[in-house]
Amino acid sequence: MTWLLQVVDLHKRYGPGCPACAELTGPRQGRSQCPRCGTVHACVAANFSLQAGEVLGIVGESGSGKSTLLQMVNLSLPADQGQILYQPPESGAAVDLCQMNGYSARHFRNDRLGIVHQRPELGLNMHFSVGGNVAEKLLLAEWRHVGRIRARTSELMRQTELPPERIDDEPHTFSGGMLQRVQIAKALASRPSLLLLDEVTSGLDLSVQARVLDLIRRIQWEEQITMLLVSHDLGVIRQLARRTIVMKNGQIVESGLTDQIMEDPQHPYTQLLVSSAL
Ligand SMILES: Nc1ncnc2c1ncn2[C@@H]1O[C@H](COP(=O)(O)OP(=O)(O)O)[C@@H](O)[C@H]1O
Ligand SMILES: [Mg+2]
Ligand SMILES: [Zn+2]
Repeated sequence: MTWLLQVVDLHKRYGPGCPACAELTGPRQGRSQCPRCGTVHACVAANFSLQAGEVLGIVGESGSGKSTLLQMVNLSLPADQGQILYQPPESGAAVDLCQMNGYSARHFRNDRLGIVHQRPELGLNMHFSVGGNVAEKLLLAEWRHVGRIRARTSELMRQTELPPERIDDEPHTFSGGMLQRVQIAKALASRPSLLLLDEVTSGLDLSVQARVLDLIRRIQWEEQITMLLVSHDLGVIRQLARRTIVMKNGQIVESGLTDQIMEDPQHPYTQLLVSSAL
């Protein structure tokens, strides 16, 4: 199988670190913050690969480092160490995204990546209309023709089941579920090769959550787009992700096929997650 992304030995810490950090932090110690120096080891030696077209789940409790990992892949947070290898679907030569300069990284993010945040204000300009938000992403990806941008926006609104007549309305007039659809429309605008989803249904009522998950499933089916799906909720992950990574205190403690993890969790922490999801 061809891979799209390979994350190799990726690290991120918040703080200066000290000689005692390694011994005092991690899943066995049950904390990611060093009691000696206060540094948070939010992502330690993360390794995984992402096949083209697959949905990979990242599950773990709040504070386990999921968003930190996702932001590094989104090139919006620099890694301290490690590689994020990207193999373009159209050619074989892999590149290390961590080595890109600022300009190339921005271009890559706008053109090849789409991200949906838990909080819509992080992903949307709340003072722009829906059309303005999608146009912003397309302009950054160097779309220039106003008519084409407008047509693409209408197409995206249809695809994400947003009423097309609301193209000029501002986000603050939309419900929570619709705001997530607007974020998804914006994220998909440039036809990215990788969609990053960070707790996209966490703030929603269960019925609304189910409909947004249905939409994501349909998009994955229609576009065959590769996705990294982050959630603290194994129930959400199991509905969409073929394979899953389990994070605890900044480290990956288990990974494998989601069905296998659900049926036969190996790590005590995963066993806890599974039993509370049943
Ligand atoms: N900018 C930051 N500065 C310091 N600590 C941070 C920062 N961002 C996140 N953290 C800490 O890093 C750890 C991982 O956070 P995060 O990646 O947001 O986890 P998750 O998304 O799994 O809840 C947490 O302990 C959090 O408090
Ligand atoms: Mg998070
Ligand atoms: Zn320390």
